[in-house]
Order: sequence, then C-alpha cells, then structure tokens
Amino acid sequence: MKLDSVREDLKVVKCQHVSLEVSNVDNSLEFYRNFLGLKLTERHLANENPAIPFEMAFMRLGKQHHDLVLTHDPNKEYTEKSNISGPVGIHHYALECPNKESFDMYLERAKSLNLEIVRGPVLHSAFQKKGDGTWGENWSFYVLDPDKHRIEIFCEMATIDNEGNYITNSGEVVPHLKVKEI
Ligand SMILES: [Fe+2]
Repeated sequence: MKLDSVREDLKVVKCQHVSLEVSNVDNSLEFYRNFLGLKLTERHLANENPAIPFEMAFMRLGKQHHDLVLTHDPNKEYTEKSNISGPVGIHHYALECPNKESFDMYLERAKSLNLEIVRGPVLHSAFQKKGDGTWGENWSFYVLDPDKHRIEIFCEMATIDNEGNYITNSGEVVPHLKVKEI
C-alpha cells in the first residue's frame, strides 16, 4: 500500500541513527572518536536498566542525542565478520560530508590513520565524466571499523526533483534518467 493519502508533513523524514553490535566498546569508541570525531553522549553497562541486558554507548555528530549507538552483549560470543558467509544484515552504512573538500579531508585522515580503504575514492555515476558507471552521482570511499562494519563516507549525492529527474550536485539534470517511483 502506498502512503499517497497521508499528509506530507506526517511522513517520516529521514533514515537517522544506526546501532552497531560491536565486540569491544572501548575499541569502537576510540575508532569513532579518532577517525570521525563523534562524541560520547552517554554510556551504560549491561542491565543498568532492567530492560537492557547489553552495553550501550550513544555517540553524536552534532546536536542530536545520538547518530550512532554501539551495543555489546557480554554474554554473546561474537564471531568475526566474513565476506564468504554469515547472516543477512546491514551491508554498509554511510556518513555524509557537507562538500567535496570535507570528503577529501576525511580521505586523507583515513590514509594517515592507516585505515583499510576497501573501495574508492570513487564517483558513483554513469553520467559524469569521472564516474564508475554506478548509481547516485556521489563521491564515496569505504573503510572498515574495528569489527569490519563497512562505513561509506560520501558527498554530493544527487537529489530527485518533483518530476523524478536526477539533479547532480552542480545542478545538472542527468539526461534520459528518471526514478522508478515519484
Ligand atoms: Fe552506500
């Protein structure tokens, strides 16, 4: 069922925080603070609240209480993530840079911290000259966190106008391309 009859101002507005299960909260806190500058809002032990039998660390990028939540169950046996097999789950999550200069700065940070860049930098585009033939019109690179959660750092993603056109960051309309649903 489509939500056509629902008032625009009542619809959800964005995909916001992600909660990652991590094998060691301290290691992940260090990584996310050091590489991306996330700040710890609050941290709680398992069973501190009777409804929450696992550790939680709420981290934020700006003013909102949390953008990233690290969780860790001390009773769970964690296995290393594998590209070969494993349960279904999140393939990657993404953090948006305000512009290309910021993106380039994080790319340099990733290199200087010797993070493993598993893909990119790449321009996801079949339209722009430097593009790799994929989708979104955005620049991206991908790194792994200490538990091999794949993080995409990106900027300049296309926007979709009311007619379903793709508009690049520089304001160009991508020719011969429309979204599947308006
Ligand atoms: Fe992505």
